[in-house]
Amino acid sequence: MPRSKIAGIGMYVPANVVTNDDLTQYMDTNDAWIQERTGIKERRYAHRTEETTTTMGAEAAKIAIERAGTTAQDIDFIVFATLSPDYYFPGCGVMLQRAMKMKEVGALDVRNQCSGFLYALSVADQFIKTGMYKNILVVGAEKHSFGLDFTTRGRNISVIFGDGAGAVVLQPTEKEGQGILSTHLHSDGESAEILAMYNPGTHANHWADKNYADFDDAPIAEMFMSHAMIDKAQNFPFMDGQSVFKKAVVKFPEVIMEALQANGYQSTDINMLIPHQANLRISQFVQQKLKLSDEQVYNNIQQYGNTTAASVPIALCEAWEKGKVKEGDLVCLAAFGSGFTWASALLKW
Ligand code: ACO
Repeated sequence: MPRSKIAGIGMYVPANVVTNDDLTQYMDTNDAWIQERTGIKERRYAHRTEETTTTMGAEAAKIAIERAGTTAQDIDFIVFATLSPDYYFPGCGVMLQRAMKMKEVGALDVRNQCSGFLYALSVADQFIKTGMYKNILVVGAEKHSFGLDFTTRGRNISVIFGDGAGAVVLQPTEKEGQGILSTHLHSDGESAEILAMYNPGTHANHWADKNYADFDDAPIAEMFMSHAMIDKAQNFPFMDGQSVFKKAVVKFPEVIMEALQANGYQSTDINMLIPHQANLRISQFVQQKLKLSDEQVYNNIQQYGNTTAASVPIALCEAWEKGKVKEGDLVCLAAFGSGFTWASALLKW
């Protein structure tokens, strides 16, 4: 059975740099608080009208496709991970197929937030291994800047996120010791409401606090989206940051060790760990727990913030471009996020 290899990788971040100081125009925050709690110095925000999640994904995809030595016409399947799609439906996969003038290939959207890219990679890996497809485009992209509460009310979340996209082309390889060795996917829906955007949605308070929104007397047309929801800022993400932190620092090391043990490796064997860029403090905690050196872990949240489904491919691409990921290296990708979901992939570059 062939393995899949990352034949090409690309990233795209918008030109607009937004510093921590820039955010003080909108909310009561400051550079010291943001850097101390998250490590973030700046992030990128997409052009308001000219860039979307799909267009950023397409920019990253063009680079990945070119580096794979192939063309958009050769792509035989698309997997697109995002939590900030251009439309509620249809998904970004079909928008990308249209934007890149691809053949009428299958396009799958993955909704696993911070773990989205790893879930997408794992799905694509299975299709390559079975021989069903030969050139799969896997994209992670986010335009968070359109969905954040830029008032002081939303500051605990809004300062964390940034926009961008990353993409890879997966192809089969028969070369000994190359490619994706294994992927590992997990979820625990008990904590679904800890990090979530409830509205617009069809829940009608079924799961959440019954007092969360005024649905009892609402006409059905106002249960999906209403003026009251907007007035109460219920159309923005909710996060219990400390609960996320506590779970993340357990599940990140666990899923990394799972990948290593499945392939007979130890943490000392890792050449490069690319953790989802959730928060620099989480990455540092994981690094210490696994006793990894600074050279074994790549972080760039300082420049881009948390770009959710885009963060792993952006960090991997940047590390590769800087020569920090080389042929034959043992690379571990790992993520944890909303759901909760968490995942890892171990590969030989
Ligand atoms: N600027 C200034 N002050 C702020 C800000 C801000 N942006 N946000 C919150 N504060 C204030 C709060 O109002 C609070 O003030 P008070 O003490 O007067 O009430 C104080 O700072 C502490 O607030 P907490 O919410 O308790 O802050 P905490 O120390 O937990 O830090 C943070 C918040 C950074 C989100 C932290 O909980 C964390 O790192 N959690 C992990 C979650 C995470 O990384 N999420 C990323 C997205 S999910 C993912 O990718 C996995």
